[in-house]
Amino acid sequence: MCGIIGFIGNKNASEIIYNGLKHLEYRGYDSVGVAYIKSKDVVIKKDVGKLNEVNSKLNFLDVKSNIGLGHCRWATTGAVTKENAHPHTDCNNIIVVVHNGIIENYLELKNDLIKKGHNFRSDTDTEVFSHLIEQKMKEGKSFEEACSIASRIIQGTAALVIANTEEEKLIGIKIGSPLVLGVSDFGYFLASDIPAFLNYTKKVIFLKDFEMVVLDKSGYRIYTIDESAKMHETEKKVYTIDWDAEQAEKGSFDHFMIKEILEQVDAISNASIQDVKKLEKFSEKILKSDKIFFVASGTSYHASLVGSYLMNKICGISTIPIIASEFSHYINSINDKTLIIAISQSGETYDVLEAVRLAKNKGAKIFSIVNVNGSTLTWESDDYLLMNCGPEIGVAATKTYSAEIVLLELIACFVAKKFEEGKMKINYLRNIIYNLTSESSRNAIKDIAKFLRDKSNLFLIGRGLLYPTAMEGALKIKEISYIHAEAFAGGELKHGTLSLIEDGVPVIALIDEATKDSTLSNAREVKARKGIVIGVSPFHDEAFDFWIKVPECNNLNPIAFIIPLQLLAYYLAVLRGFDPDKPRNLSKSITVK
Ligand code: F6R
Repeated sequence: MCGIIGFIGNKNASEIIYNGLKHLEYRGYDSVGVAYIKSKDVVIKKDVGKLNEVNSKLNFLDVKSNIGLGHCRWATTGAVTKENAHPHTDCNNIIVVVHNGIIENYLELKNDLIKKGHNFRSDTDTEVFSHLIEQKMKEGKSFEEACSIASRIIQGTAALVIANTEEEKLIGIKIGSPLVLGVSDFGYFLASDIPAFLNYTKKVIFLKDFEMVVLDKSGYRIYTIDESAKMHETEKKVYTIDWDAEQAEKGSFDHFMIKEILEQVDAISNASIQDVKKLEKFSEKILKSDKIFFVASGTSYHASLVGSYLMNKICGISTIPIIASEFSHYINSINDKTLIIAISQSGETYDVLEAVRLAKNKGAKIFSIVNVNGSTLTWESDDYLLMNCGPEIGVAATKTYSAEIVLLELIACFVAKKFEEGKMKINYLRNIIYNLTSESSRNAIKDIAKFLRDKSNLFLIGRGLLYPTAMEGALKIKEISYIHAEAFAGGELKHGTLSLIEDGVPVIALIDEATKDSTLSNAREVKARKGIVIGVSPFHDEAFDFWIKVPECNNLNPIAFIIPLQLLAYYLAVLRGFDPDKPRNLSKSITVK
């Protein structure tokens, strides 16, 4: 969803910006650009393509400067062209802007600025911001005042880094999109995400909406911008984060995705280390609430479906899982006795934040499950549990999905007063994941991927806890290998979709002890129509053409069973020649509507 970075200090900015962009590329990779401020002048390099492609053409590293900005784009307003790549400037190349978000009223502002004589060079919404600041400065405002006024004129979402080449200053503003400030003894960083500067500092200030950071070589000042665009200086706490810089590096792995799949052995135990007092609070709130909604998107939504089954199974409590972007249609049933459990890896997903804000307005309480500490969702929530996964860089969520399920299982067990039992089971799962991700298991899955690589459709079936698991498996396969994959509840096959099964159509059947008889009979129905059955289960059956053995883990089956499906999606993408870390048209952390 676009990555932005800025640096000011006494080190070479070009290296810092380039390294930062490498870590932000997961947020957008259709075009990339940098700007360096030098002797009150600006050097801009930008073009369409991935960072390494554009860098080998333009060399981002050959300018020595102490102030820089960078941007990797996931196009929203304006086509993927060199002109639309960021940074964007005002008429005189004094104000330089990089932006993540969408300015909804940009056309109206643009027309007005054109009438006032401003010369636009792109079709983006972002360029409006640089001209708006230029205009306000022309009208006599300082750079800082112009930025704060502009922040209240635009409508929509924005994280912005803005340079003033004459004053040699950087300003960062957060309005609904993520922005963090990194602090070190050699300079200051503004970025969409912590991994962008984790190699240089672990000291971080988390910004809230309508906070503005002013950076020059002497230090930083933070202001809150009130509704009338007045600036109020504010003190903020500096946090030292415990993420390891190595966690944000690929190391010897070919892709982040495979690294993160293998990291699940540790991710599940790290997720299970939780403050019991917080779990108690979650549990009390669940027991006191009239209605409980899970709200999440994509993979996190699939985890919430698993959570809903678990809450019912383990503690007999019914919950309603809702896709975050659909939540507004349920608003009439929300009140002050409602509990929203929001689940989000990034804590920045627009749809989730919007749902949460709607629910809060109706008096609901918000408890969340989040990976990124300091993200907007953590500020918006009454309380939250952290997944403790470290940064997840691959666009396809893997380790955070498992961590989300661990937390949902722990919460359900806590409510049912079976916490110790639940925790023990999670520890036991470590060895199972270790085996499921071993080299021999990976090779077996690779062989199945070789068989499936040229198929254009495949189906997944499962029941109970394995139905959302099938949905998550289908999403992984679709999003990175571009093979059409669809999941069905086993019992639904006979209600229509069985007509899609013909000679050679592959069906992955997820079968555990609880669903053995029913899903096996579905697998046989597929077999009888000459479909190819790939059984994923603790036991073999003659209906299987291929068998992926997964040990029975009862309530934790959604974690055990997703591992081979994540691996299958990964190998399918690689064998078909696609980069699993950067699927087309997608981006991690969707901060727009
Ligand atoms: C799929 C995937 C997405 C995210 C979704 C929500 O692999 O990663 O579907 O799950 O965009 O993101 P978060 O969890 O950050 O709210």
